[in-house]
Amino acid sequence: MKVTVYNCREFDEKELFLRYEKELGIELVLCADAPTLENAHLTKGSECVDIITSKITRELLEAFHNNGVKYLTTRTIGYDHIDLEAAKEFGIKVGNAPYGPNGVADYTVMLILMSIRKMKRIMERTNIQDYTLAGIQGRELKDLTVGVIGTGRIGRTVIQDLSGFGCKMIAYDLYEQEEVKQYAEYVPLAQLFAQADVITLHTPLTEQNYHIIDAKSIATMKDGVVIVNTARGALIDSEALISAIESGKIGAAGLDVVENEFGLYYYDHKSDILNNRELAILRGFPNVTVSHHMAFYTDNCVETVVRDSLLSCKLFVEGQENPWEVA
Ligand code: NAI
Repeated sequence: MKVTVYNCREFDEKELFLRYEKELGIELVLCADAPTLENAHLTKGSECVDIITSKITRELLEAFHNNGVKYLTTRTIGYDHIDLEAAKEFGIKVGNAPYGPNGVADYTVMLILMSIRKMKRIMERTNIQDYTLAGIQGRELKDLTVGVIGTGRIGRTVIQDLSGFGCKMIAYDLYEQEEVKQYAEYVPLAQLFAQADVITLHTPLTEQNYHIIDAKSIATMKDGVVIVNTARGALIDSEALISAIESGKIGAAGLDVVENEFGLYYYDHKSDILNNRELAILRGFPNVTVSHHMAFYTDNCVETVVRDSLLSCKLFVEGQENPWEVA
């Protein structure tokens, strides 16, 4: 069987693809670029196509179909970049390749610790051999209340991880999970805002929770509250966040995601003037740690998505039960 792989990254994926090609006995066509009508000919003779988040349009699906493709797997959790209706029409089944929640959960715990221990300031000082102590006193997690918004795969794992630190934990979700209750108490959102010293976000972005952290909700929070966001940028109103950091209402923030990051993150913009003022301001604060939406990015995650995307192709072609098939 043959699989055409698009967006194959040289620096971290290629070696894994070559290894699993041998282990699973699959013939691979590796292409570094995103799929286009111009390079769709690479799928000729392949039963399966392996992609990431580039848009998969009706035209592309038609081209894949004409080349004999029957299965499309995406090395991501989400699959809303694929025209599923067109895929169905052309008889192409779709699968995803989710990775575990631990990478993002670890990263969240790290951002919480970095924020309460003022790690950005400490690192900046050591870089210039400023070994003074004034202004870098931290707080201990065991003395704090952590509020977790969203107790799905990642939020739940964060709660389990934090349970070893001895902090009090409160949680909010539309749906309560029994296993969370041994570590955290579910409370109404208003109570979470009012009582948490650290608030960490783990929900998808929906119409309902767009700017869930805004001027109004911030006003109800404790002075010096720490905000951590490894979920989606638009859960936080950046302008309101900036004002609250300037006033001292928010004591620190750890942001792996920001509003309007699309097109910025994952590219080298060293020499560019960027059009995201909020990001520039947030990056400049000594108490805000910003990273470029890479909480997921671990060796385990990359290997899992490469391996499982190929395994799902194999199961599909062999007509076996395929746990990764989603449409
Ligand atoms: P999940 O689907 O397992 O859990 C999401 C939880 O949020 C569910 O329990 C759901 O009931 C809850 N929820 C949805 N809307 C809500 C609302 N309005 N108020 C309260 N709770 C609500 O999702 P998972 O895998 O835990 O991911 C959480 C977030 O992390 C998502 O936004 C995802 O996009 C993001 N993420 C970020 C990554 C990164 O690298 N920074 C990597 C992977 C995911």
